[in-house]
Amino acid sequence: IGQEEPTMPGLLLGDEFPNFEADTTIGRIKFHDFLGNSWGILFSHPRDFTPVCTTELACAAKISDEFKKRGVKMIALSIDSVEDHRNWSKDVMAYNSAAETPLPFPIIADHKRELSVQLGMLDPDERDKDGMPLTARCVFVIGPDKKLKLSILYPATTGRNFDELLRVIDSLQLTAQKKVATPVDWKPGDKVMVIPSLSDAEAKSLFPNGVTTQEVPSGKKYLRYTHI
Ligand code: BEZ
Repeated sequence: IGQEEPTMPGLLLGDEFPNFEADTTIGRIKFHDFLGNSWGILFSHPRDFTPVCTTELACAAKISDEFKKRGVKMIALSIDSVEDHRNWSKDVMAYNSAAETPLPFPIIADHKRELSVQLGMLDPDERDKDGMPLTARCVFVIGPDKKLKLSILYPATTGRNFDELLRVIDSLQLTAQKKVATPVDWKPGDKVMVIPSLSDAEAKSLFPNGVTTQEVPSGKKYLRYTHI
C-alpha cells in the first residue's frame, strides 16, 4: 500500500495568512508576532545544502537591505532541521564571500513538512530518497494586515529572480496606496495605469499630474496613464 499523498488546500489572495508557530534559526516564532506591523515575504526551498537553493539564499542575503528599505521582513523555509539550517547558512554566506556575516533573515525548520502541506508548497515531481515530496519554490508576500497579497510557485528545478520580487513589492506597495495598476515590466518612476473602475472625472481629480489616454482601434478609452 502506497503512502497517502497529503492534500494541499493552498491559500488565495486576500486570505489571512496562517498565524503558524514554528522553530526557526532565531528560535520559536508565532508568524504574526514575527511580522509585527511590517510587510513580509516568506520563500520556501526544497532542501538545505542544494545548489540552486544556495544561489537563491545568497542572492536574498545580498539584497536584504533592499527589502528592509521597503519595510519587508524576510523569512525562508526549508524541510530540514534548525541545526542543518544553521550549518547551511554558513555555506550560503561563504558563497557570498561574507563568511563572517550571519544570514540576515531566519529560516523556518519544517522537517515534518507540516507547514509545507498547510501552505500548499509541496512539489510532487521532486522527491527525496525516501520518496517524500520536496518543497517547491513558493513566494508569499503578506501585507501589514496579515493578508496574502501575492503568491508565486516555481518548481524545485527553476531558481527565482529576487530583483523581480523587489519589483512586485514596489508595485504592491504603490497600488495598496493609490488607485493605479502597474503595466508590463513597470519600474518605480515609470508611468502607471489608471484602474478601470475609476471614471474619467474621478481620475482627473485624483491625479494632479494629469491623465493621458492612448487611442486604440476599438475607440474604447481604457489605456489611461498617469505619473505619480
Ligand atoms: C537545488 O536547489 O539545486 C534543487 C533542489 C531540489 C531539486 C532540484 C534542485
